[in-house]
Formats: sequence, structure tokens, C-alpha cells
Amino acid sequence: DTLKNNPQAKASFEKIINVIITNASDGDQIIDEIRSYSRQEGDRQYTLVGLKEALDKTLRMLYIQINKFQNIDISINIAADVPPVFASAIGLQNIFVNMFNNAYDSIQEMKEYIKSHPELGLNNYKGRIAVSITCAKGNVNIHLVDNGMGMTVDIAKKLFTPHYTTKASSDKRKEIKLSGGTGIGLYTIRFLVKEYGGTVKLVKTGHLEGAEFLIQIPVPKNGEKEV
Ligand SMILES: Nc1ncnc2c1ncn2[C@@H]1O[C@H](COP(=O)(O)OP(=O)(O)OP(=O)(O)O)[C@@H](O)[C@H]1O
Ligand SMILES: [Mg+2]
Repeated sequence: DTLKNNPQAKASFEKIINVIITNASDGDQIIDEIRSYSRQEGDRQYTLVGLKEALDKTLRMLYIQINKFQNIDISINIAADVPPVFASAIGLQNIFVNMFNNAYDSIQEMKEYIKSHPELGLNNYKGRIAVSITCAKGNVNIHLVDNGMGMTVDIAKKLFTPHYTTKASSDKRKEIKLSGGTGIGLYTIRFLVKEYGGTVKLVKTGHLEGAEFLIQIPVPKNGEKEV
């Protein structure tokens, strides 16, 4: 609502989206940016960032730009004791944008698969993305679960490798309005999460079984983390 009534805010959100989307789709550019980013040792834009704020912003951006998540159930659960993490606000949004886009693609692929496999009896399928964030043993745990296509073990082994993608552009993909992938999303996510002292891993998946990822970022000590 706020954005609708405030063209200036909307314009600036759109700017951010474009930056993020450009980064996310231009593999070599982001690798260069990642490299130069990591060289700027003393100059990181790290602050304490609230995960709710980062997620809210990400979702607003995704809704404004592509309007594409409107047919997907999105649930966000953040436990009351989750503290802000020491990170870059744009970086966290970049992580969420990449994660949501992967889940979206996978849900669209699932819908297509169901169309050509009526025997599965899944004609009431609805895409779902759930994010739940908790805090335990010195870590903030970000679980991201989708009910898309999931993947085979072979794919799962390679998914953090830069330029690895199963999304080669094709007429079929164009038909269902999916662009080709560059295979840089998860690589970028891993890079950023490492910068915050954390880890990201695929927890669970299977063919037609969706995917569950876990991102862990350490709780800042005394409200700050030594970088
Ligand atoms: N949620 C998911 N469900 C199923 N497969 C996934 C999921 N996330 C990632 N993958 C698989 O991992 C591969 C690599 O993902 P990654 O985000 O790094 O690249 P991409 O999505 O193919 O391209 P890009 O993100 O650069 O546009 C994907 O091509 C896809 O096969
Ligand atoms: Mg991706």
C-alpha cells in the first residue's frame, strides 16, 4: 500500500530490483563483482540486519516487478527470539531473491510435469514456498522449503558449482515464460553466506519431492561480529 501511494519509493525499489536481477542473471558480471567485493576488506557495508525486514523488502520487490508469485502460497515464520544478523542488507535480499526464483522455477516446472502426467492425480497442485527462521545454539537457522520438482541426486551434487544449470533456454521454457539460467544463483548465495560466517546446504530433496535448504548464520556476539 505504502508503495502504491508513493511513486518515489516505488521507483527506488524498482532500481534495487533491477540491480539485483541484473546481478542474478549476468554470471560473469556477478563473479567479477564478487571478486572486487571481497577485495574491499575495510569497506564492507555490514550492519545488523533484521531478517523480517530483508524478507519483506524482497517480497515487495518480487511482487512489484514480476507479479509472478501471486499464485503461490508463501508463508513466512520468524520466531520471536531471532536476532538481527551481521550482514549486508542488499546481500541478504540477493540471497532471498535467488532462493525464491529457484523455488518459483521449480514450481512452474512441476506444473508442466503434472500436465503431461495426469496419472499422478495432482491436478489440485498448488505451489508453496515456506520460510521459517529460528534461533538455536548460536545460529540463526533459515529453512526454505518449496514443493516444486525437486531434483535427483546427480543434480543435487552439483548445484553450488558456478555455471551449473539445468535451465538451458529452450522453446519449451519460453512457452511457460521461464528464462534460461546462468547457474550462478546458488554460487552467489554460498559466497554471500560465507561472508557472514555462515553456511548454506541442501537438506532434503528428491524427484517430484520439492527442495529444502538451510542457511545458518551465526548470532552476532554482543550485537556485533568481528569481521
Ligand atoms: N529449489 C530448487 N528446486 C529444484 N532444483 C533447484 C532448486 N534450486 C536450485 N535447483 C537446481 O540447481 C541448479 C543451480 O541453481 P542456481 O540458482 O545456481 O542456477 P540457476 O537457477 O540454474 O540459474 P540462475 O540462478 O543463475 O538464474 C538449477 O539449475 C536447478 O537445477
Ligand atoms: Mg537460480
